[in-house]
Amino acid sequence: MTRLDRVEQTRTLTPRTAVIWSVLRGELERRAGERLTVLDVGGGTGGFAVPLAEAGHWVTVVDASPDALAALARRAAEAGVADRVRAVQGDGDALAGLVEPASVDLVLCHSVLEVVDEPASVVSALVGALRHGGAASVLVAGRAAAVLGRAMNGHLDVAAALAADAHGNAGPRDTLRRRYDVDGAAALLTDGGLTVEEIHGVRVLADLLPAAVADGQPAALVELERALAARSPYRDLAAQLHLFARRPA
Ligand SMILES: C[S@@+](CC[C@H](N)C(=O)[O-])C[C@H]1O[C@@H](n2cnc3c(N)ncnc32)[C@H](O)[C@@H]1O
Repeated sequence: MTRLDRVEQTRTLTPRTAVIWSVLRGELERRAGERLTVLDVGGGTGGFAVPLAEAGHWVTVVDASPDALAALARRAAEAGVADRVRAVQGDGDALAGLVEPASVDLVLCHSVLEVVDEPASVVSALVGALRHGGAASVLVAGRAAAVLGRAMNGHLDVAAALAADAHGNAGPRDTLRRRYDVDGAAALLTDGGLTVEEIHGVRVLADLLPAAVADGQPAALVELERALAARSPYRDLAAQLHLFARRPA
């Protein structure tokens, strides 16, 4: 059993995390035996950073929020990996001053590109931090699911605004600045200099199901999410899109 197996056994995989861990696991197995340098941009309270540190890797979390970083530090200490987790307060598009260029094996950027001012600048900064041949795990909000969700809740005007807006924003009360479709998200990474290797949908079904079904059959739901994640059209309708990409060697 690998250290990652042991880490996974201690955590419950959810529809939000299972598909992403499957993809990350492929990269970690490809680099088995190496202690990777990992950078989690906007890593928040360490939901991915701490398990990666528990699996033996060195993780730096750069996040704009001091509160999130304080929670990360507590979580890392509780897990006994405080020495392998570095918390840095800073902006995702200013990584060059915070992280040595071309020093990172794996960069995570989950649920960040939809809230920052300039997503292309953040992608450019991620690429600059990666070694040649290093990998990027990027999670963004999906536009199609948001349109369907608003419509199914009866907010047809908001659904129409979301569908029509060039950036997938629903108007002044929207908490996200933008949402992506598969092609737009892939183009953002490709234009930044990454080669996209895999695209999966995350939460294809989870947000559509009645809570009684989702809570009552959690293992079956995770299995179905995994089965649908890479298949169009299901993938394209997911609440989030996960892209796994690489800086060319
Ligand atoms: C929705 S949370 C996602 C946290 C984590 N990546 C996850 O998937 O659970 C977004 C995080 O990005 C951080 N953030 C927002 N804008 C940022 C920026 N410009 N630079 C760095 N972090 C940022 C926030 O403080 C927050 O912790």
